[in-house]
Amino acid sequence: MKRLSIVVVALLVVGVLLSACGGSAGAAKIKVATDATFPPFETVDEATKQVVGFDVDLIKAIGAKAGFEVEIINSGFDSMLAGVGSCQYEAGIAGITITDERKQQMLFSDPYFAAGQLVIVRKDNSDIVGRESLSGKTVGSQIGTTGAIEVGKIAGAKLKTYDEFNQAFQDLMNGQIDAVIADNVLSLGYIGKSPDKLKAVGDVFTGEDYGIAVCNKNAELQTRINKALADIKADGTLDKLVQKWIVAAQ
Ligand code: ARG
Repeated sequence: MKRLSIVVVALLVVGVLLSACGGSAGAAKIKVATDATFPPFETVDEATKQVVGFDVDLIKAIGAKAGFEVEIINSGFDSMLAGVGSCQYEAGIAGITITDERKQQMLFSDPYFAAGQLVIVRKDNSDIVGRESLSGKTVGSQIGTTGAIEVGKIAGAKLKTYDEFNQAFQDLMNGQIDAVIADNVLSLGYIGKSPDKLKAVGDVFTGEDYGIAVCNKNAELQTRINKALADIKADGTLDKLVQKWIVAAQ
């Protein structure tokens, strides 16, 4: 009897210790920040209020391979980058372009998607034919994004920043601004929803790679993510996600 109760107590202690370590099967949970205003990579599902999209599926598939659980935290784009930079979050996934400037603040996984910037104008506009006609124009983009950085490089263009791309496209359709510069897949989605109001002009004019941002004190997590990402590329999972979220949506 006494021995049995010692065993019971021992099991209870082990149980408490295990659950303190992060729950089921001891898999650690990592905080991954995003900015769920960027369909089809991440957006809030109106019906379920859950964050869904290509990036959410991708980071979960990576976690399943690498042996960690993912807690998605929805913050603004700028605060997501700052939060990964300060290691408040272990990682960030948000269609984040890998840039040399950002590499000073955080680590990046290997690339998982190739993208670039596009100029979008109102359908009835005929004087803007590409980025070369934006001098003297007001151009909207999301604050802190490579789109906003690109507007800043165009001589004579006036940058108007928004917390979300959605607001920039609204202002464009309402005639408040002349153009938007934004990532190609997102932009094609907006054009697809309002083909009578919006159009792209010129070609995709930057070559960018999306990567998963990682706290710069956690090179081990970066390595684990890269291993899992390589598997996901090799076994066709990444292609399936492209089909599901990007090809199917166009
Ligand atoms: N690729 C661009 C960048 O890294 C835009 C990403 C915006 N992502 C988002 N979830 N709002 O700056």
